[in-house]
Amino acid sequence: MRIAVTGSRGQVALSLVERAAARGDVEVVAIGRPEIDLARPETLKGCLGAVAPDILVSAAAYTAVDQAEDEPDLAMAVNGIAPGFIAAEAAAAGIPVIHLSTDYVFSGEGDAPYREDDVTGPKGVYGRTKLAGEKAVAAANPRHVILRTAWVYSPFGKNFVRTMLRLAAERDTVSVVADQWGNPTSALDIADGILAVADRLMAGTAPFGVYHLAGTGFASWADLARCVFAESGARGGPVAEVRGIATADYPTRARRPANSPLDTARLQRDFGWSAPPWQRSAAHVVDRLLSGDG
Ligand SMILES: NC(=O)c1ccc[n+]([C@@H]2O[C@H](COP(=O)([O-])OP(=O)(O)OC[C@H]3O[C@@H](n4cnc5c(N)ncnc54)[C@H](OP(=O)(O)O)[C@@H]3O)[C@@H](O)[C@H]2O)c1
Repeated sequence: MRIAVTGSRGQVALSLVERAAARGDVEVVAIGRPEIDLARPETLKGCLGAVAPDILVSAAAYTAVDQAEDEPDLAMAVNGIAPGFIAAEAAAAGIPVIHLSTDYVFSGEGDAPYREDDVTGPKGVYGRTKLAGEKAVAAANPRHVILRTAWVYSPFGKNFVRTMLRLAAERDTVSVVADQWGNPTSALDIADGILAVADRLMAGTAPFGVYHLAGTGFASWADLARCVFAESGARGGPVAEVRGIATADYPTRARRPANSPLDTARLQRDFGWSAPPWQRSAAHVVDRLLSGDG
């Protein structure tokens, strides 16, 4: 099986390359800037031709949640419009698309984990543009699996876990938001989930539609930070005291959903796959980051 993935230097693409290599029977071709630029649709035309993949994974995105508030047009071009063009390229090539989306399509004002059909209501530009992208993908290619994920970290790139380890090396106490709830999700697990979906797509037995794929169990950002420091301390790495603070005490440009855990039962039911408990995956990534394996 040959998979093309966009966002070649992103956490999900790099994780997919690694996990596919570990399996041995999947070739992943990562494509990205400067060859394809989602802000310049003309670069997307025919982008799959030379690669000739069996499946396209659309993982590139404008992921700077706060910056998106200041660049709504660019965020919409990249997250809301370009995924439709990419999905259309896949449709023209006769292949299905797996598109990554986010828990930020929800308002976070509910009190139960979100199911796929729950009403959306993004709080900010990033969530609005990602929701537009979901619709564009679905309209452009009926053979689509949209995977909403959340709170992504990995051994690669900039992410919360890496930031916590850096801060712990610099100071004794770290203030972390304790009243936002979600599913910390390792991009390595996302990659495994994508491969499980891809296997079924190749077998021709996959259902299409929207699915939630996220780490099992939920946490606050402060919980995740405490877990990171516990795992780091156990390996002789940097530790810090976590001071839980309220969202109101940590103003950011974008508003974020307060309570956006995702219900992943549909993915488990239809694809027989679910992520490990988030704590186990976080421990693995801390281990990798401390040993410089990223
Ligand atoms: N990160 C999270 O917490 C999170 C949470 C929920 C959902 N998601 C979704 O999961 C997917 C993967 O996220 P990630 O964490 O792997 O993202 P990431 O590490 O931030 O990587 C994003 C990738 O998109 C590429 N990109 C950005 N703008 C582009 C453009 N105009 N043209 C082409 N490529 C562009 C970047 O390219 P460069 O390397 O050239 O900059 C980068 O490789 C995204 O769809 C994201 O919305 C992420």
